[in-house]
Amino acid sequence: MKLGRRDLIWIVPSGIAATFFGWFGWRTVKIQFLKSNPSGEPTWKEGPRQPVAPLSELDEVWSFRYFEYPLAAGKLPCTVLRLPGPVPGGLSVQGRHYAAWSRICTHQGCTVDYVKNAEAGAILYNYRSDHPFFGCKCHFGAFDPVQAGKAVFGPPRYPLPRIRLELEGEMLYASGHEVPLRPLESLRTFGDARV
Ligand code: FES
Repeated sequence: MKLGRRDLIWIVPSGIAATFFGWFGWRTVKIQFLKSNPSGEPTWKEGPRQPVAPLSELDEVWSFRYFEYPLAAGKLPCTVLRLPGPVPGGLSVQGRHYAAWSRICTHQGCTVDYVKNAEAGAILYNYRSDHPFFGCKCHFGAFDPVQAGKAVFGPPRYPLPRIRLELEGEMLYASGHEVPLRPLESLRTFGDARV
């Protein structure tokens, strides 16, 4: 069959539309169904030992503290949480469970916040959970601390990297971070990230 110029009038727009909807469909599947699970036990990269919080500051389940972890490229904003149960990569001491994560969103590098009030979080982030979570305001991504920081909503696909915790006396210390440290490894300095 020979195609004339007139045929192009519908072939070209149809091709563009098919490409767009194909791309959009694949992107939706990737975002909704292909989120990576955190590894069972993280691969740690040894780092400086940094005080994080005394246990007395994390005396209740879901209490938290923001802190900064020093890396060669700059200070990594992080959160430490007391959790209701153990998570891979966390620290359990005498029936109390703690874990810490980077606050840099694995989507495009914005800073995630700890959303302690899940009801308010459902309104703010359009993500409903029966417990606190991490939310990213840039594109409304959410990460679940109970699932070791897994991305559970919105565009992020990868979990938040974990920070290794140690206990000495009554003080929690950070002593390294999970690798890969997404998404910072692809950025030259923290100055390139919106932190
Ligand atoms: S940068 Fe966090 S959801 Fe896009």
